[in-house]
Amino acid sequence: MWIAKTKVELRARLDAASRPVILVPTMGALHEGHASLISLAREKAGTDGTVIVSLFVNPIQFDRAGDLAAYPRPLAADLDVCEARSADGVFVPDDGEMYFPDRSVTVTERSLSTHLCGAARPGHFDGVCTVVLKLFLLTGCEAAVFGEKDFQQLAVIRRMVRDLDLRTEIIPHPTIRESDGLAMSSRNARLTPEHRADAPRIRQALLTAAGKSDVASILRVAGEIIGGSSYARIDYLSLVDAETLAPTENLAKPAILACAVFYGEVRLIDNIAVARAFP
Ligand code: PAF
Repeated sequence: MWIAKTKVELRARLDAASRPVILVPTMGALHEGHASLISLAREKAGTDGTVIVSLFVNPIQFDRAGDLAAYPRPLAADLDVCEARSADGVFVPDDGEMYFPDRSVTVTERSLSTHLCGAARPGHFDGVCTVVLKLFLLTGCEAAVFGEKDFQQLAVIRRMVRDLDLRTEIIPHPTIRESDGLAMSSRNARLTPEHRADAPRIRQALLTAAGKSDVASILRVAGEIIGGSSYARIDYLSLVDAETLAPTENLAKPAILACAVFYGEVRLIDNIAVARAFP
């Protein structure tokens, strides 16, 4: 497995790479969820294609300097995961390699980003779109894999691909869960034992609520189950149109029940498709 730290090294590797090139963009701190994305990329690329994992903690998608500084960067362990899942190459640029100090062009998404996580994090998804577009262009990848846990991110990137006529295929991967249903996240490691034991209620709430037949019951039931915890604090709980991410009351179209829940300082997100309305 090769490692490229600069764009020049990456280009040299890619000039010699066999197609298709499948990218798995990450910010490192890889867990089993990321490992599954790499395995899916390997499957799609076949033995002849090239799987590239990017490990880059993208500074322009953080709205709090403390979060950026505290973000874990376990490079050696991350490289082991990439190797174990048969990635062909890893791109590990530093900030200076990715961004000119006087950079002045970014991607802006003006609609989907105004809902859910984006409502409280102005500029976050512009930072995500900008780095993802750069990674697509730098690698020339035919396809890229993204997890469905970050449903809004997936929707925003699909919108960018549509609106900018990008030729990269977006491959979604279902959320990987712990055995008790908690969605895998690098943040889970920061939960206290009490919070970790309580957090699977998020999944239970979404599953139970998604079985209800009307919007009011869906939101009420999910709110009651999560709100029944003395630890959990709901940041948002919304039923949204799966395409526009705007709040919806229309169960005749694909909808997503999505939430963000704080346990202390740790903010967990999860979502479920409310597909019961579709025969
Ligand atoms: O999901 C992430 O880890 C990041 O938002 C991404 C897509 C790698 C962009 O920095």
